[in-house]
Amino acid sequence: MEVKKDQHTSPPSETIPIVDLSNPDEELVSRAVVKASQEWGIFHVVNHGISMDLIRRLKEVGTQFFELPETEKKAVAKPDDSQDFEGYTRNLKYTEGEVWADNLFHRILPQSCINYKYWPRNPPQYREVTEEYTKETKKLSERLLGFLSEGLGLRHEALKEGLGGEKSEYVLRINNFPPNPQPDATLGLPEHTDIVALALIVTNEVPGLQVFHEDHWFDIQYVPSSITVTIGDQILRLSNGKYKNVLHRVTVDKEKQRMSWPVFVDANPDVVIRPLPELITGDNPSMFKPIVCKDFKYRRLFKLPVD
Ligand code: SIN
Ligand code: FE2
Repeated sequence: MEVKKDQHTSPPSETIPIVDLSNPDEELVSRAVVKASQEWGIFHVVNHGISMDLIRRLKEVGTQFFELPETEKKAVAKPDDSQDFEGYTRNLKYTEGEVWADNLFHRILPQSCINYKYWPRNPPQYREVTEEYTKETKKLSERLLGFLSEGLGLRHEALKEGLGGEKSEYVLRINNFPPNPQPDATLGLPEHTDIVALALIVTNEVPGLQVFHEDHWFDIQYVPSSITVTIGDQILRLSNGKYKNVLHRVTVDKEKQRMSWPVFVDANPDVVIRPLPELITGDNPSMFKPIVCKDFKYRRLFKLPVD
């Protein structure tokens, strides 16, 4: 079984954009986020306002959870008959197109959607740290959505509102990619675009994320203090194609364990995903059919046509 790793041709000088969010020139920052989202659909943000100590603690509690014996991790297992994604799953029998990863998924916002039964009790600080990180990622993602809205010539809140405002959902996923003796025949995650609006990703120090850009797969470097932002399908659709949903995948390492912590910003399931009406004119017709978010995600997950 051969995975397409031969397309490892990214010129070393080219990297995804790095946006410094502490620059006092807010307009310049906004333009940089907009440009990166149009051209790449992925960028690193640095000086993003989330304390490195909090990120260190987030990684610590997640790592401790994955180090627990299997029997203890099963306390938050995704039930076999569950129609939803929440809970812990282990998928380490790699066949092509699948994942080589253990992962834990659970909603973190809005409060009314949280199922604490899928939040680990061990380590005991897990909940407190995750709640603190949730508040910070919400602020950061709203700031980014504001820039992206302005880049469309709209009010700061336009995209947030288009996703369902305070009813939009936030989900934390923790991916654990153990070493794999056959890294050339395995992918941690097969190529995909995210079916959500945005993902804000932190990782451990082991690289592995790759993005497809201008006909090449690019390795994404580990930038210690950064958060990596990916644009997903919902922002592509709400922006009527202006922002790019980046195609990406995750490779595995022969010796090292990789971990990542994406937070997904997702529209409310009942929201209709459609280009924001203000963007549609005679010269700029809608590129996408309106579709209710939960139907959109179902169709994307089961690889059914959407438009
Ligand atoms: C993802 O695609 O959600 C995972 C990203 C990563 O592991 O870097
Ligand atoms: Fe992804």
